[in-house]
Amino acid sequence: MFDNTHAHITTWVIALILFIVALGLHNAGKQKGMKVVQMILRLFYLLIILTGVLMFFKHQGIDPALYGIKALVGIWVIAMFEMILVRMNKGKGTGIFWVQLIIAFIIVLYLGLRLPLGLHPFA
Ligand code: HEM
Repeated sequence: MFDNTHAHITTWVIALILFIVALGLHNAGKQKGMKVVQMILRLFYLLIILTGVLMFFKHQGIDPALYGIKALVGIWVIAMFEMILVRMNKGKGTGIFWVQLIIAFIIVLYLGLRLPLGLHPFA
């Protein structure tokens, strides 16, 4: 959990799937089902942060600035998941949050893969 990225990757991949399922249920008009998925998704936000923080505190000394930015952008992705679903439920516009989600997701993948643990396609 502290020295490899497996648990962290598992949590954010499941969160991404739950986010897509929540969107699908919303579009199908199944609001009750969507609410349940949204609650489970919120639990996964906590697990993403927990697994990220555990690696962060053990390894951030290697490159504190980049680790700090990685953590903040990770929180930004989670915030956009939440904003999109909440605003969708209220019937409000989500365009600007989708733009931010895509930008933040690209940055978090790039930073995560550049940092020393786990996979290094860019190194
Ligand atoms: C949805 C949000 C997030 C996504 C998509 C994401 C994605 C990733 C990816 C792709 C990696 C690299 C895995 C590898 O190289 O095997 C990674 C590593 C990491 N993430 Fe996240 N992450 C997210 C949220 C967070 C948060 C909130 C934190 C901190 C609070 C965090 C801290 C870390 C740390 C410390 C690493 C290890 C960096 C290293 O040394 O290689 N992540 N993340």
